[in-house]
Amino acid sequence: MMRKKIVAANWKMNMTQAESAEFVRSLLLDLADIRDVEVVIVPPFTAIAKVTEALGTEQDIKIGAQNMHWEKNGAFTGEISAALLRDLFVRYVVLGHSERRTLFGETDEIVNRKVRAAHEATLRPIVCIGETLEQRDKGKVEKVLSKQLHGSLAEVSAKELQETVIAYEPIWAIGTGRNATPEQAQEAHAFIRKTLAEISDETTAERMRIQYGGSVKPANARELMSQADIDGALVGGASLEARSFAEIVKAARPAD
Ligand code: PGA
Repeated sequence: MMRKKIVAANWKMNMTQAESAEFVRSLLLDLADIRDVEVVIVPPFTAIAKVTEALGTEQDIKIGAQNMHWEKNGAFTGEISAALLRDLFVRYVVLGHSERRTLFGETDEIVNRKVRAAHEATLRPIVCIGETLEQRDKGKVEKVLSKQLHGSLAEVSAKELQETVIAYEPIWAIGTGRNATPEQAQEAHAFIRKTLAEISDETTAERMRIQYGGSVKPANARELMSQADIDGALVGGASLEARSFAEIVKAARPAD
């Protein structure tokens, strides 16, 4: 099964409107002829409209959001709904990032509500999972990933799962400069795909894309993404600079 690779730039709490526009201009020059990789830019809410404007007629690069609330609308000061994101032409939404889980108390149940609300609004979720260093050292990787997958994807249909991206991000590799080795990452991704088949079915699991995230940079991107079950990358730090993000996108291209 040939899955189209998906590479996303998670800007986190960075990038002004001016910086965002400049980034897009530079990225479009660098990626002019790339159609075989799906590229997603995930700005802070405040720069989404600017990125859309800067992309202009460039339909191949998609826009994502970093979070959303599960309710459709109402008295939720400071929150953003799926419908408000759709109104800004957002196609993807990152859910359950480890920073949301650890700093803002998001549980699998909360992530699950958001995943279902996203699908209801035809937004595609990028669901983040991953273990801490302590959990890895104690040999609990599979247990943790299995629990996060079952919890975050409860009551999501096979059809919706096929529109869902999983991002495996070992917490000890995020922003630390210490990426998982390609072998460690592949082992986790294979386990995730096996678990997805149990949650749903083989065909669905084969179709789903699983990104790796955690200190991805131009120097390690190709080797990571050439593993059988690694279908792209969710990039933080190295996505703040158009040149290095473009290099990572190019590293995702299928070999000739
Ligand atoms: P990093 O972040 O690339 O800076 O490690 C990845 C992420 O948190 O998505």
